[in-house]
Amino acid sequence: MYIMHIALQGCLRANTVEYGITSDTGGHIQYLMQLVSASASDPRVERIDIVTRAFDAPFSAHDYRRAEETVNAKTRLIRLASGKPEYLDKEALHTELDDLTAALNAYIARAPRRPDFIHAHYADAAEVAAGAKACHGIPFVFTAHSLGRVKQAHGGASDPAALARRIEYEEGALARAALVFASSRDEAELQYADYENYDPGRIRIVRPGIDSAAFRDARPADDAHALLARFLTEPDKPVILAIARPVARKNLLGLVRAYGQSPTLRERANLVIVAGTRQRLADLEPELAENMRALFEAIDEYDLHGRIAYPKQHRAEDIPAIYAWARERGGVFVNPALNEPFGLTLLEAAAAGLPVVATDSGGPNDIVSYCDNGELVSPHDTDGLATAIERVLADRRRWGRLSRNGRRAALDYDWHEHAHRYHALLADLDAAPAPAPVSPRARLLVCDIDGTLVGCRTGVRRFNAWQAENDDVVLAIATGRSFHSALDVLEQAGIRRPRCLITSVGSEIYHLADDGTTYRRDHGWSHRLAANWPRADIAACVADVPGVLAQSPLEQRRFKLSYLTGDDPAIATAVRRHLRCEGLKASVIHSHGCYLDVLPQGVSKGAAVARLRDRYGLPPEQVIVAGDSGNDAEMLRLSQQSIIVANAEAELIAYPGLTHAYRARAGHGRGVVEGMQYFLGAGVRAS
Ligand code: GLC
Ligand code: MG
Repeated sequence: MYIMHIALQGCLRANTVEYGITSDTGGHIQYLMQLVSASASDPRVERIDIVTRAFDAPFSAHDYRRAEETVNAKTRLIRLASGKPEYLDKEALHTELDDLTAALNAYIARAPRRPDFIHAHYADAAEVAAGAKACHGIPFVFTAHSLGRVKQAHGGASDPAALARRIEYEEGALARAALVFASSRDEAELQYADYENYDPGRIRIVRPGIDSAAFRDARPADDAHALLARFLTEPDKPVILAIARPVARKNLLGLVRAYGQSPTLRERANLVIVAGTRQRLADLEPELAENMRALFEAIDEYDLHGRIAYPKQHRAEDIPAIYAWARERGGVFVNPALNEPFGLTLLEAAAAGLPVVATDSGGPNDIVSYCDNGELVSPHDTDGLATAIERVLADRRRWGRLSRNGRRAALDYDWHEHAHRYHALLADLDAAPAPAPVSPRARLLVCDIDGTLVGCRTGVRRFNAWQAENDDVVLAIATGRSFHSALDVLEQAGIRRPRCLITSVGSEIYHLADDGTTYRRDHGWSHRLAANWPRADIAACVADVPGVLAQSPLEQRRFKLSYLTGDDPAIATAVRRHLRCEGLKASVIHSHGCYLDVLPQGVSKGAAVARLRDRYGLPPEQVIVAGDSGNDAEMLRLSQQSIIVANAEAELIAYPGLTHAYRARAGHGRGVVEGMQYFLGAGVRAS
């Protein structure tokens, strides 16, 4: 495989990148260089090019004009010249894109071999990649790294025209890229959601790596102790640690306030704020200086002297030791950001074994739910932040569990693992066969995930073995999970890519695309649902019902509002009654005794299965469905051939209209196979 990356911003070098030398020489370049280095170590990859722009760099001792540099045995850095000779910030690069496209097309035309894929990093590179696709027919994939719309929503930009242009390029990338890579569910499902060309089916989450070992093995070195202890009257107390640049978005002030206002926290723990390095405030960029001043004022206002450390300077190598210093004191890492696109520090803390408290806006959502190493709070709830920190510090057994969970999960954020999945997806895009059309004589199995397909390892193995032998049965999934969350579990369980996915309790439907790799959303279904869905009114109405608590923002979808309920079985009835009183119509589904989903009227997994049947022209007797809980009830009731696995929830057993269902004697995947054998006429009969 020959992959060509395009990254036009900042100052790229083959080795020792000068991080921070310009404001665009930062995170996305680090991501690219680490990806490329892991990618090159895979024997499937024969060659990698990194294409960037050539410019004069009087501000550096290095040459940024050289046409070619060697990164490693397989990888070259290629610099293409454009009209302007000088270095340009990302906001100013747009004038060069035509020149760069022409230069790239000429380069490819001259080269003895064409790249199999172009991978565009950042929206401007996608414009150039689209030009190469038009000229040479080379497909391109896209990584945004950060999104213009998110920036727009959180405070806007100093240059609105540049931001508008960037968003337009991002729209173009979404429309034309063969595949879009995201780092988190938050990015794939929330940050992208407002784009016109958003199609979750073409976005894949591939987790970036971190250097876990540096944080895992870190010790609380003497230097770190010296750096922090001199601020603190009792330096051995537990530590509440935050590490972030002092930009407004990082909300360090919110954390100081939460600490200052909580007598419990002030008593129990010290606060450590590592907010970049400075000589004199006056030398910092104005935003940074202003935020530092506000922090100092708050420290004074709450009189936190002796309880808070805010070192002026530190070296990059002190950071792992600082995490370790906090871990040895039974501390907690806090990311109080108003919004965080990804949240790398949370992973560093996880790897270091330090539990976390983070705000539920952005990447931390899925880092914390994936790692299960801490708590999420609203960025606007100062008291909530303080009580979450108190809870983590107070319960030592739980602290130990969160610490272990984080250490274990951080290992999954690994560049080699990333490269492996990345290459597998590219290889599939290139070679996976188009799915065969579903014949009107085919059998369709529509299967729930949690508690049905997964939940028992032998069950998964049994199901996979059965499926390998019965690949004429078309597999569809029907789950409460979102599309990306569903793909993730299926992949972990080694279950073959399904032909269709019904996700978010029937409110979204996806079909495997002709490339055999990505999915296409059923837009007709979305339009139908949109016709009768006063989402904001319904959300406001449900929020009034006592005892319902909104699930995390990631679980709220365009056509699905999701809540947690106590174990009060009457709560669904109360919600239905309240909606009715307000003249609102919706479908209210209670499952596992604790989840409550509110969907457009008439929507359920069952309604979505009917839509699949119509689309494929399948008669009812060829569709078999399987499930275990309340959110499967309608699908099981509406189907002629239904399988209820043995481990089904009580609420499902009690559901009216299910007497026709096959009650498997086995649970989970084994129960599904047993039911399939029954319906396909090969096995046991119901007892
Ligand atoms: C999944 C979803 C959740 C939903 C539940 C029940 O767990 O993530 O939002 O409430 O299924 O349908
Ligand atoms: Mg289930």
